[in-house]
Amino acid sequence: MMRVEFTVNGQQRSDDIEPRLLLVHYLRETCGLRAANVGCDTTSCGACTVLFNGSSVKSCTMLTVQAAGGEVTTAEGLAAPDGELHPVQRAFRQEHALQCGFCTPGMVMATVGLLAENPEPTEQQVREGLEGNLCRCTGYHNIVRAVLAAASEQASAAAGEQASAAAGEQASAAAGEQASVASAASAAGGRAGR
Ligand code: FES
Ligand code: FES
Repeated sequence: MMRVEFTVNGQQRSDDIEPRLLLVHYLRETCGLRAANVGCDTTSCGACTVLFNGSSVKSCTMLTVQAAGGEVTTAEGLAAPDGELHPVQRAFRQEHALQCGFCTPGMVMATVGLLAENPEPTEQQVREGLEGNLCRCTGYHNIVRAVLAAASEQASAAAGEQASAAAGEQASAAAGEQASVASAASAAGGRAGR
């Protein structure tokens, strides 16, 4: 047994584990996080995909000890603390990008990793980026639509944030100018009154 310490879905973990324990089994059996599924155990299907330090990895291919000191995120950890879904989760729901749902957590996590690397992928890049994730229900058409929808939502959210930051800067610059005009005017008023 050996002790590993790392963060899972924002929570610090410290567990004694067998050195041969695969990350997917650790997540499912030790942490009780069942979103990452085991579809093949041979790195073929992507059902076990999670994020490790922000990049998507197949957790059936990684030993738990390899995650030591890092940060693991599963589909359970994607939504905001108040329950608001991640944009990728919302897009999968809106575009009906799931049928039986077995591949879905892995597809979602692979999509989050893909958009972190390439925020504005083309349809071809989406298909290539997700080629390591298989859907046995063959619902690829809606999955690709969901990924493109999530990319576009994230891009407009980022543009909105930039615009409001710029507006905030302009407003505070204008307020600063007004304040300095007012103080100059009052200084001039003081001199005129002497
Ligand atoms: S279970 Fe990991 S790739 Fe299939
Ligand atoms: S939705 Fe059934 S395997 Fe993908």
